[in-house]
Amino acid sequence: MSSLPYKTALVTGASSGIGRAIAQRLVNAGLRVYALGRDAKALEALALECHVIPVAVDLKDTSSLHELFDSTEIDVVVNNAGLLPAIAKFSDTDPADIDAMIDVNLRAPLRVAQLALKGMVARKRGHLFFVGSSAGRFPHPNTAVYGATKAAISMFCDSLRCDLLGTKVRVTEIAPGRVQTNLYRTALGEQGANEKLYDAYRSIQPENIAELIATALTLPEAVDVSRMEVFPTDQAAGGSQIVSVD
Ligand SMILES: NC(=O)c1ccc[n+]([C@@H]2O[C@H](COP(=O)([O-])OP(=O)(O)OC[C@H]3O[C@@H](n4cnc5c(N)ncnc54)[C@H](OP(=O)(O)O)[C@@H]3O)[C@@H](O)[C@H]2O)c1
Repeated sequence: MSSLPYKTALVTGASSGIGRAIAQRLVNAGLRVYALGRDAKALEALALECHVIPVAVDLKDTSSLHELFDSTEIDVVVNNAGLLPAIAKFSDTDPADIDAMIDVNLRAPLRVAQLALKGMVARKRGHLFFVGSSAGRFPHPNTAVYGATKAAISMFCDSLRCDLLGTKVRVTEIAPGRVQTNLYRTALGEQGANEKLYDAYRSIQPENIAELIATALTLPEAVDVSRMEVFPTDQAAGGSQIVSVD
């Protein structure tokens, strides 16, 4: 049973990393959780672990989600799915990667939010989360498109909160620094990511982000945590420097 004023949640990017941990945490909080991703096997494995409802979907096309939102009251949406296909100067970035980042990091969360808000506004109940990034708040080399999609999400959250005044629907952006997940393993390979980013450093763990979301949900409905910036203790704000600690 949920002690929250909400019953159901939908988490995108639940097959891996931060989204997987969020889905598990929300199940533990008593919510019925729809877990979205492309990797059907990973979602089935998660369902065996913690009884999420797997929804295999490529978020480059959100049209198949209309039916779910029309037939189900979704109270909490965590727009978390995202990708960073390569770390490269903008001039060397593959145009297909530009499109993929805009599709998944930006267009999909907006479309999913619009689908969710129809019911949330009518019911005067709901909480939308968006997983942005420190890369959307501070410049980083070789990730210009990724940073642009996350900056757009950040301003979208602020503007959306203006549009939603009086509806009781809450909007929270989470902008993390380095979290230990598969995100960079696509760009750097598993060994490369471990050597360059994780082995000698204390990163944020996905469960830490999940805990922040659970905490924001438990606050009274009159309190909206509009933005959470969270960095590893050993990473300077902005992400420019991270140190290894014995
Ligand atoms: N790791 C970090 O340091 C860090 C820092 C700041 C922000 N973030 C953000 O955190 C979010 C989660 O990333 P993560 O670090 O947990 O990385 P991850 O382990 O690589 O997870 C990314 C998730 O996004 C999903 N996804 C990617 N493309 C998709 C598509 N076309 N359709 C549906 N789902 C798709 C993946 O699912 P499938 O592969 O099953 O499709 C996966 O579940 C992202 O928005 C990322 O930008 C991460």
